[in-house]
Amino acid sequence: MIVLATVADLRRQVAAWRAEGHRVALVPTMGALHEGHLALVRRARELAARVVVSIFVNPTQFGPNEDFAAYPRRHDADAQMLEATGAHGLYLPPLQAMYPEGFATTVSVAGVSEGLCGEVRPGHFAGVATVVTKLFLQAAPDVAVFGEKDYQQLQVIRRLVADLDIPLEVVGLPTVRDADGLALSSRNAYLTAAERTVASALPATLKAVAARLAAGGAVAEQLAWGREALLKAGFQSVDYLELRAAGDLAPQERLDRPARLLVAARLGKARLLDNIEVS
Ligand code: PAJ
Repeated sequence: MIVLATVADLRRQVAAWRAEGHRVALVPTMGALHEGHLALVRRARELAARVVVSIFVNPTQFGPNEDFAAYPRRHDADAQMLEATGAHGLYLPPLQAMYPEGFATTVSVAGVSEGLCGEVRPGHFAGVATVVTKLFLQAAPDVAVFGEKDYQQLQVIRRLVADLDIPLEVVGLPTVRDADGLALSSRNAYLTAAERTVASALPATLKAVAARLAAGGAVAEQLAWGREALLKAGFQSVDYLELRAAGDLAPQERLDRPARLLVAARLGKARLLDNIEVS
């Protein structure tokens, strides 16, 4: 696996692979890698002969009181995991390479960025859209792989690729979970052992609410039941628990099309996200 630090090195390497006739896949991450990230890398290997993984803890997607400084950084362990998983390139741009002096451009995606995490974290999706657009233009991959774990983010990225005519395919992958159902996340590292036990109520509650909705329960009532269940289980607060249309994330007052149930809730130092399909 080759480690690349500059845009010029990345472009040269991707061009060389393409000259050899290889398709190239990009897997953007912020590091502190786990099996969820590695599942994306494995899928990327099926989709392209060469896979580049980027690790960049992107400051513009963190709010002023969020965990940018505390976000786990484990580049050596990450590199070893990527090597063992068969990634061909690791792109590790320094901060100044992504946001040099004078940087002044923001990509913002209306509609799908609004509400849910977009409401709780103002500016978050503009930060994501900006850095992902840069990574797409820098690496110029044939395909890019993302997780459904960050479902709203995936829809934001699909929208910006379509709107800006970026010539690549976006592939979304189902969430990888621990044995008790908790979605793997770099932020699970913030949980104490006791909180980790409580955390399993998040996927369990999503499943229970989805089953109640599928059985014909009234949406507002079931969502209120779910929020209550999370607080009773030990979550400090629920940022949102909402039913949205699967594609454009429009709010759904009744279950009459493919829908997604999305949640964000706070537990200790962590803010945990999850979502599932409801049919
Ligand atoms: P990060 O949180 O590191 O996630 C990188 C990718 O891994 C995202 O596509 C995310 O959805 C996916 N992922 C995380 N946990 C997963 C799980 N349990 N199962 C499947 N996929 C999972 O998302 C980001 O970084 C950043 O916002 C980024 C897109 C890199 C832009 O900075």
